[in-house]
Amino acid sequence: MKKIIITGGYGFIGSNLVNYFLKKNFFVINIDKLSYSSNKYNLKISKKSNYVFIKSDIGNKKIIIKTLKKYKPSLIFNLAAETHVDRSIDGPEAFIKNNIQSTFNLLESLRFHNKNSKKKIKLIHISTDEVYGDIINNKLRADEKFQYQPSSPYAASKASSEHLVKAYVRTYNFPAIISNCSNNYGPNQNPEKLIPKIIFNILNNLPIPVYGKGNNSREWLHVKDHCRALEILSTKGKIGENYNIGSGNNLSNLNLIKTIIRLMKKNYKLNAKFIFVKDRPGHDLRYALNSKKIRTKLNWKPKINLIKGISETIDWYMQNQNYFKNLKGKSHLKRLGLKI
Ligand SMILES: NC(=O)c1ccc[n+]([C@@H]2O[C@H](COP(=O)([O-])OP(=O)(O)OC[C@H]3O[C@@H](n4cnc5c(N)ncnc54)[C@H](O)[C@@H]3O)[C@@H](O)[C@H]2O)c1
Repeated sequence: MKKIIITGGYGFIGSNLVNYFLKKNFFVINIDKLSYSSNKYNLKISKKSNYVFIKSDIGNKKIIIKTLKKYKPSLIFNLAAETHVDRSIDGPEAFIKNNIQSTFNLLESLRFHNKNSKKKIKLIHISTDEVYGDIINNKLRADEKFQYQPSSPYAASKASSEHLVKAYVRTYNFPAIISNCSNNYGPNQNPEKLIPKIIFNILNNLPIPVYGKGNNSREWLHVKDHCRALEILSTKGKIGENYNIGSGNNLSNLNLIKTIIRLMKKNYKLNAKFIFVKDRPGHDLRYALNSKKIRTKLNWKPKINLIKGISETIDWYMQNQNYFKNLKGKSHLKRLGLKI
C-alpha cells in the first residue's frame, strides 16, 4: 500500500485530495493544524486502517521528523497554507509565518530525513496562479516561464515558498515538483471564499457583495480535476519543474454571481440580490494560465464542464448545510481585507 502525507488535509482542496487517495486505497497521513478554514465536516472517516490524522503545524520539525521516520511515506503533497487574500491584507504576518517560515521548516525536516534514509521522499508543493500577478492583456495567458509579479501578501508568500523549494532542488538535489493551479471550486470550501459565500448568502437571505465593478476575471477549475492533476504530477512530473494547472475557462466575478443566482432560482426557487461594495486593495483584474505543458507532456486535461460542475457544487452545499454549522467562527459574515 502506497503511503503518502497530505498537509492541510482538513481544508478545501486537502480534504478532497485525502478522499481522492483513500478511494484509491492509499495509506494517507493527514497533517493539519486545524486553523479557521479547516472543517471537521470535510472528512468523515470512520476509523479506517489506512488513514492517520496528526494535528500539527508543518513548521513543527520535531513532530514532522518523527512522523516521516515512523511512516516512511514515498510522497508528500504540501497544501498547508494561509489562503485568503483578504486576510493577507488585514494581517500579512500570519502569511509570512505559515507560508514561508513553516514551508522552510518542512523543507528542513524533509532534507534531514532524506539525508539519513535510502528512500527519498518526493515533495509536491501546491502553489497558485496568483504568483504571476495581474494578466491584464486579454490575449495573454501565463506559462511556467512567465515573470512572477505577486500583488497581494498572500501571492508574495506563495511565490517566496516556491523559491525556497526551487533552491532546495538546485542546492540539495531535493526531489520536488511545484504546481501552479487556478481558482478551484467544489465541495468543502470555507464561505469566506467567493462561491460558497454566494451560496451561503442566498440561503440566508443576505445580499451578495460584489467587489468593485465585478469585472475581475478568474479561471475556474473543479477541485476533482485538480486532484487528478496532482496525482499525475506525482507519478509523471519532472523533478525541479513547475506545472500550471488550469481549465482555460474564465468568468468575471459578476458573471459567476449571476450564474449561481440563476441556478439557485431554477433548481431551488431561491431568490437573491447582489450589491456593489468597495473594491479589494490591489485587486488583480485577471488571472489566466497557459496549461499546455501538463496537457501535452503529462496528458492531463480537465473533465468537468464548468456550468455542470457549479450546478453540482450548489447541490452539494444544499445537501450538506451542516457544513456551514461546523464552521469555526463567524468570519464569513464579515467584510475582510479593508484594514490598510
Ligand atoms: N483554493 C484555491 O482556489 C487554490 C488555488 C490554487 C492553489 N491553492 C493552494 O492550495 C492549497 C490549499 O488551499 P485551500 O483552498 O484548500 O486552503 P484552505 O484554507 O481551505 O485550507 C488550508 C488548510 O491548511 C491548514 N494549515 C494552514 N497552515 C498550516 C500549517 N502551517 N501547518 C499545518 N496546517 C496548516 C489549515 O488548517 C487548513 O485546513 C494552498 O496552498 C493554496 O495556496 C488554492
